[in-house]
Amino acid sequence: MSEEFKELEQHNKIPKGWLLFYFALILWGVYYIIRYTPEISGWSYYKQFEAEMKAAQVSQKTIPTENPYEHDEKAIAEGKLIYEEHCSDCHGEDLKGDVGPDLTAHLKYGETDDKKFTSIADGRPGGMPAFRNQLGRDRIWKVLAYVDSVREYGGKP
Ligand code: HEC
Repeated sequence: MSEEFKELEQHNKIPKGWLLFYFALILWGVYYIIRYTPEISGWSYYKQFEAEMKAAQVSQKTIPTENPYEHDEKAIAEGKLIYEEHCSDCHGEDLKGDVGPDLTAHLKYGETDDKKFTSIADGRPGGMPAFRNQLGRDRIWKVLAYVDSVREYGGKP
């Protein structure tokens, strides 16, 4: 071989970094195939989907037992507006009751946060409408934070 050709061949050597990258890509491909082939790894999109749905259902059913907005001034102010719009016709402007019972007195369906939440979210048989769909969880907690602020310290910060 002439010197000229030898020189040309040297120029065509594959750079080491590129080779490494090439093998890494193959390894990754093999790993990926094994990882996501149900017959080999047991992974399945449906299984993952089911697991995610299950997790979502659990978190929807469990009501937090504590009001996240307790003593939160901004939320209480918002809750007051919600109360005036949706609750005061039945429970009175001052919460002392009208068609509905006095909300500053003893609550027969329970006075823990989760019981009060359920009263508002799901309603009660004696004429309390359910507000879960209309208000949603967040605003129910806010209106409850307002109700509780009146129960505990007259609604003033
Ligand atoms: C259509 C009238 C009406 C509206 C509107 C209404 N309530 Fe009531 N509420 C009632 C009645 C009547 C009861 C009593 C239900 C019973 O005794 O079974 C009640 C019960 C409750 C209870 C449970 C009381 C207890 O003794 O355990 C809470 C808490 C409550 N309401 C909060 C609210 C809040 C907060 C709103 C606004 C989002 C609201 N209510 C809107 C009529 C209403």
